[in-house]
Amino acid sequence: MSIFFTFFLFFTSVTPHKYLPIDRIPVWKSKNDPNIGPAFGQPEQIRLAYGGDESTYSVTWQTYDDTLKSIVEYGTDISDLKNSVEGRCAVFLDGQKHSVWRYIHRVNLTGLEPGTRYYYHVGSEHGWSPIFFFTALKERESGGYIYAVYGDLGVENGRSLGTIQKMAQKGELDMVLHVGDFAYNMDESNGETGDEFFRQIEPISGYIPYMAAVGNHEYYNNFTHYVNRFTMPNSEHNLFYSYDLGPVHFIVFSTEFYFNLHLGYHQMENQFNWLTNDLKKANENRKEVPWIITQGHRPMYCSDFDGDDCTKYESIIRTGLPLTHGYALEKLFYEYGVDVELWAHEHSYERLWPVYNRTVFNGTQQPYVDPPAPVHIITGSAGCRENTDVFIEHPPPWSAIRSTDYGFGVMRVYNSTHLNFKQINVAQGGTEDDDFWVIKSSPKHHRPFKHRDLKRLRTYGTHVPKHHCHHKSHCDETRKKRTRRHQKRDE
Ligand SMILES: [Fe+2]
Repeated sequence: MSIFFTFFLFFTSVTPHKYLPIDRIPVWKSKNDPNIGPAFGQPEQIRLAYGGDESTYSVTWQTYDDTLKSIVEYGTDISDLKNSVEGRCAVFLDGQKHSVWRYIHRVNLTGLEPGTRYYYHVGSEHGWSPIFFFTALKERESGGYIYAVYGDLGVENGRSLGTIQKMAQKGELDMVLHVGDFAYNMDESNGETGDEFFRQIEPISGYIPYMAAVGNHEYYNNFTHYVNRFTMPNSEHNLFYSYDLGPVHFIVFSTEFYFNLHLGYHQMENQFNWLTNDLKKANENRKEVPWIITQGHRPMYCSDFDGDDCTKYESIIRTGLPLTHGYALEKLFYEYGVDVELWAHEHSYERLWPVYNRTVFNGTQQPYVDPPAPVHIITGSAGCRENTDVFIEHPPPWSAIRSTDYGFGVMRVYNSTHLNFKQINVAQGGTEDDDFWVIKSSPKHHRPFKHRDLKRLRTYGTHVPKHHCHHKSHCDETRKKRTRRHQKRDE
């Protein structure tokens, strides 16, 4: 399985991880007083992440003092954790006036046997965590991997948390894809809100890999909490990266660069170049890894009532920067044949018909079989203090299914041709708001979209122009407004 260890130099003010030297003498030790040890050496906030292949996991945790060592002990027998691996420790100060010293420990576990259950604990002689377990990733006998997919989960009103924790511990999930907006907000209360969030997700992240994408709520100090707390594969900053798992090439990127231009254009430009290069390589490898699935926080399309970017005729994420249309993502993802695009930010669930350039493929019996355009899914209602979002009454033609109830997605990629997505409604006791399939009739149909796809899209699809009326009442209102405007002008 090929992994793309491609990352560009990250010219930004993001604080790089400040790793402490192995041969350091911690402050408490330098006092040479046998009665002084680390003040807070107890590990907490344990989180696993996929390391880029099935035999590699990273383990990350936090202490509030320097424990000198960062160790994971693990084994297949809970009473005999015979393997010991030492990692590195970085110190993290978030830049606030009363910034707390946080010690972020990272250990890589390699050579894991797919499908084997491992027990582990983390820490040092100054404190050990409870024993957790994980099963090294392996395709399920009934096919593929199962992912929980959601965004916008906060420490308050985290409505989906309990259900996801239970599913993770029962082995009903293989991995979490959290598509931006954590904690609300990680930097608040001097960073304690972030600490609390990582404690709350530990019953998930201690057992299965917890994979992250950055959202607007991580904006503080150029995403410093997000950058310093997570450990994502093939990246030092976690802001854009990619990895393969089974038949899927996952691409994670930051939509936030487009809305934080005061930090400079270079972040957006670096990412765009990286995306282009990564998509190119992914297409060269499509025989081995056919699906391409992207994750970005702010969607290109939506039918919410909040005036967000996705409600605009030309959303910035879709068509790029105003006037120049620079760094537009819809065209890029279309040209390289992205199959599925996962989004959040809107506190709701919305599944779209296949769509490209505001032309919606909804005029056939089976629009999700060999769709001639990417399939967009927005799932940002996991639960936070900001409540769920409201939809406009009459949605545009791209909207297939919508729900404003709290919940999260469960995606299962069975093989190279079949992908299933369900939206679990936790507000209604776990019922399903949606259950649909994206199907490729042959693995060969994973490829860049071509002229014949565009022709199919135009022949059977519906183009949605700027002043499209989706409903009679809406059209009447638009007509009345126009008449009033003309009358005023003629007066
Ligand atoms: Fe958001």
